[in-house]
Amino acid sequence: MKINSIKILVVDDEVGYRKVLNNVLTERGFSVRTAASGEEALEELKKQEFPLVIIDMKLPGGIDGLELLQRIKGMYNSSVLIMTAYGGIETAVEAMRRGAFNYITKPFNIDEIILNIDRMIAQQKIIEENKYLHSELEKVYGLKRIVGSSREIQKVLDMISRVAFSSATVLITGESGTGKELVARAIHFTGNRKDEKFVVINCATLSENLLESELFGHVKGAFTGAIKDKKGLFEEADGGTLFMDEIGDIPKSVQAKILRVLQEGEFLTLGDTIPKKVDVRIIAATNQDLLQRVQEKEFREDLYYRLNVINIRMPPLRERKEDIPLLVKHFIEKYNKKENKQVKGISPEVETECYHYHWPGNVRELENVIERAVTLTKEDVISLNVVLPLVKKTGDVTATEDELLAQPYKMARRKALDAFNRKYIMNVLNKTNGNVTNAARESEIERQYLQRMLKRYNIKSRDIF
Ligand SMILES: Nc1ncnc2c1ncn2[C@@H]1O[C@H](COP(=O)(O)OP(=O)(O)OP(=O)(O)O)[C@@H](O)[C@H]1O
Ligand SMILES: [Mg+2]
Repeated sequence: MKINSIKILVVDDEVGYRKVLNNVLTERGFSVRTAASGEEALEELKKQEFPLVIIDMKLPGGIDGLELLQRIKGMYNSSVLIMTAYGGIETAVEAMRRGAFNYITKPFNIDEIILNIDRMIAQQKIIEENKYLHSELEKVYGLKRIVGSSREIQKVLDMISRVAFSSATVLITGESGTGKELVARAIHFTGNRKDEKFVVINCATLSENLLESELFGHVKGAFTGAIKDKKGLFEEADGGTLFMDEIGDIPKSVQAKILRVLQEGEFLTLGDTIPKKVDVRIIAATNQDLLQRVQEKEFREDLYYRLNVINIRMPPLRERKEDIPLLVKHFIEKYNKKENKQVKGISPEVETECYHYHWPGNVRELENVIERAVTLTKEDVISLNVVLPLVKKTGDVTATEDELLAQPYKMARRKALDAFNRKYIMNVLNKTNGNVTNAARESEIERQYLQRMLKRYNIKSRDIF
């Protein structure tokens, strides 16, 4: 901040003080305006912003110093220095409570004023930086991060901007890689909780006990190994948002406790007897069919309805293929930057291939393919021979065993099971020439269950044979 660009507003009814401050500060390069009353000051503030304001507590007319301070603090980001007559300490303390930067008692010497101004400038710098950081955060996490022009994505964006400013619980459903977490972040960083914390917990990767102590915290000695008090994530996220990923996987005992937070806004820390109150917005996500989990009695119905106040369904990529070109462009730009490359685009053949491919891993898979293609390609247009091996490989849901072993158990188990199920179903359907009823009989699976698996793994008759 250059001194000569810094504007200071001096508010004092005594013309002597106005003159002195005006002269001294102008001499030092500040741009100074003066006002003789609260009303005049507000007029000045309407015309331009003042990062620094100096106010005498005792002002004539309807608006005294305290009120002026309060109004300024309510409308602007200014740093305010208070001047009070000797003996006015009580009002000065009240002023500090209302957000004044500091106070000085009259008469003062100029050095004292200058010292305070220096510190207020430093405070303004921090305020500026924060503003900048928040606009950056919004770029990184806000609505702008969500790329797509399809009607489906437009609907999602519209929904986000409508729900962002409420505290209603949101359930985001959709296949893996469709952008559920992206949407959760966009809701948080768009809404009025954006200055508070966004806390993430992946419910699938933690054991029952760990999940509970992560969510609700524990007091020292609550169980063996609880060597000190630990804050839970609900407390951590107080005032902000808790994003509960893979909510379909929480054990029933924990479900009951989450229900209580949703219903009463309070919970018990493990080993504690006094419930804690919190104000947390919950956004949950799942790639499972939660209603089906309810029918299977694995998920509490009451919790389901509490979570599902607002539902945002993320459509799979294959249902909004018109988003692919924009996403490809977006990811090429992203990885050009990261890999220091100058890739211009994809060839028409790749475009066609992208269009016909199923994208079982959705946007995440597309992103991975583009990332690797950008890294691998030697030409500035990505050609089919670079992409084909990537698509085939990632299209196959089987991760290698080593890859699985490096992942959390539950996730690894699910992936292994998914891969097995898919293989099993494809095999039996091949045997029955795609006849689902016969396949069900052959494998002794209930037909409806088989149908559900077909849907879940997105196996269509054209995949068979
Ligand atoms: N519309 C989109 N625009 C830009 N990037 C996207 C979009 N959708 C998804 N992505 C990117 O794809 C990746 C996967 O997204 P995200 O993690 O939000 O998916 P998810 O639905 O939470 O997946 P999972 O169920 O596997 O956790 C991320 O890197 C995300 O940035
Ligand atoms: Mg996710």
